Amino acid sequence: MRINRLVAATAGLGLALTLAACGGQGAGGVDDAPGGDSADADPSDQTIGVAMPTQTSERWIADGEAVKSQLEEKGYTVDLQFANDDIPTQSQQIDQMITQGVDLLIIASIDGTALSSQLESAAAKDIPVIAYDRLINGSDHVEFYVTFDNYNVGVQQATSLLVGLGFLEEDGTEAADAPTSPQNIEVFAGSPDDNNAGFFFDGAMETLAPYLEDGRIVVPSGQTDFDTVATLRWSQEAAQTRMEDLLTSTYSGGEELDGVLSPFDGISRGVITALQGAGHGPSLEEGLPIVSGQDAEIASVSLIDQGVQFATIFKDTRKLASQAVTAATSFLEGDEPEANDTETYDNGVKIVPSYLLESDIVYKENISELLIDSGYYTQEQVDTGQ
Ligand code: BGC
Repeated sequence: MRINRLVAATAGLGLALTLAACGGQGAGGVDDAPGGDSADADPSDQTIGVAMPTQTSERWIADGEAVKSQLEEKGYTVDLQFANDDIPTQSQQIDQMITQGVDLLIIASIDGTALSSQLESAAAKDIPVIAYDRLINGSDHVEFYVTFDNYNVGVQQATSLLVGLGFLEEDGTEAADAPTSPQNIEVFAGSPDDNNAGFFFDGAMETLAPYLEDGRIVVPSGQTDFDTVATLRWSQEAAQTRMEDLLTSTYSGGEELDGVLSPFDGISRGVITALQGAGHGPSLEEGLPIVSGQDAEIASVSLIDQGVQFATIFKDTRKLASQAVTAATSFLEGDEPEANDTETYDNGVKIVPSYLLESDIVYKENISELLIDSGYYTQEQVDTGQ
């Protein structure tokens, strides 16, 4: 699954330039797209299959609902399915969508390599496939990819950890009063079958590398290898267990733990539960280690507001849904969506033209600005965590 990691690292700078050049214009149409045989079809005659991985994480529920409602506003019929993080369920759901004759598929895969046969069937019926947030690997039949700049999400996760540890200011500049003694951290990565997990991990570890190299930051367990620190299916429970094991194996002699790199809010909450259970904190003010995150899930935003979790990364699912809908509309109108990145996402068979969005670091201080003023959450949701 880690086919694309080096490409991502080298493409980071070029990507920033490309994103700037494209200035956030949507994936507008370019003529003569493959799969666009329905150019004159009425949206009300067209059905779009939307396959989402799970409802156990709120971001995917929000993604599913946003894609569905935005497509319905354009007049399309939508078949939205969630797969309980179970690969056979997702394969079956997509098979069924194809059998029922959908005109286009939008897929957020569970395992990025497990859908080759579904994609073959879709191609045989000239059904365009848009990979949603997670790249589908090992297939020629992925027409387009909408996602965030995943390498940069990892950079932001590590940056938030460096801010929390006191090495950087929130604006990314060096802190004047950086710690003078080594800071101990542990690192967690996402699911090894999700292409994004490697991008997040590489972005984060390359950002931490100078600190690890000169000893300003230390990983006392020695566990820094992706396969060792990965968390299958992004499981909160698995993360909690691994954190508990690390506390027993490495910190039972009274060693300090200052921070934890976490790539997803569910993992962050598992880690925080383990830390609190072992007597850390319970809040940052009372010594809880700095924990990063991702997705700005309401439960975690509330913990950030209460001074428990330190930070998260906000990826506006409304914007991602909107890009998916723009791309879908282009295909269904016989055009090809416009990409803003045609270098980074090699799925092992081809480079998939992509549209990448930008993300933001959420700290306690900017919850209002990023999440409430934009209408993503209400103050009440932040207060109650629901
Ligand atoms: C997404 C993340 C999410 C993770 C777990 C990844 O593919 O990009 O936003 O945290 O899956 O659901």
